[in-house]
Amino acid sequence: MSLSSILVVHGPNLNLLGTREPDVYGTATLADHVAAVTAAATPHRISVADVQSNSEGELVNAIHAAKGVYDAIIINAGAFTHYSWALHDALRSFSGNVIEVHLSNPGAREEFRHVSVLSGVVNGTISGLGGVGYSLAVQALLQLA
Ligand code: DQA
Repeated sequence: MSLSSILVVHGPNLNLLGTREPDVYGTATLADHVAAVTAAATPHRISVADVQSNSEGELVNAIHAAKGVYDAIIINAGAFTHYSWALHDALRSFSGNVIEVHLSNPGAREEFRHVSVLSGVVNGTISGLGGVGYSLAVQALLQLA
């Protein structure tokens, strides 16, 4: 499987990164995290696009539109991670590799965060490493390709 393009998908409230609960999520902004993906991908001639939405339907549409356009997806679905079967089904229809990223370690937080309904349809999950997770996700996609 070739890897020349990645779509980075961010879910609800992640537009607030930088100011949102910095003790949990750090002070880097969403743009900083996308820049980290781009910095890790560019030396490998991989292009990076990104989408963020607070709306589940928009994210479903973005994943549908990614089919045949992007080789891989890096997704931090925010709280949708824990209950969006619509995102689960959308990712199931995407044929490329998918890495799930979380800045925090949901398994060490409130119980409702312990389940990811996306985990069964992604190649793997990187969580609890802050922004480092995004560049590791690119490394993972390179290894999988
Ligand atoms: C998150 C973890 C989710 O539980 C939470 O709802 C988020 C961010 C993370 O990156 O740690 O919005 O996905």
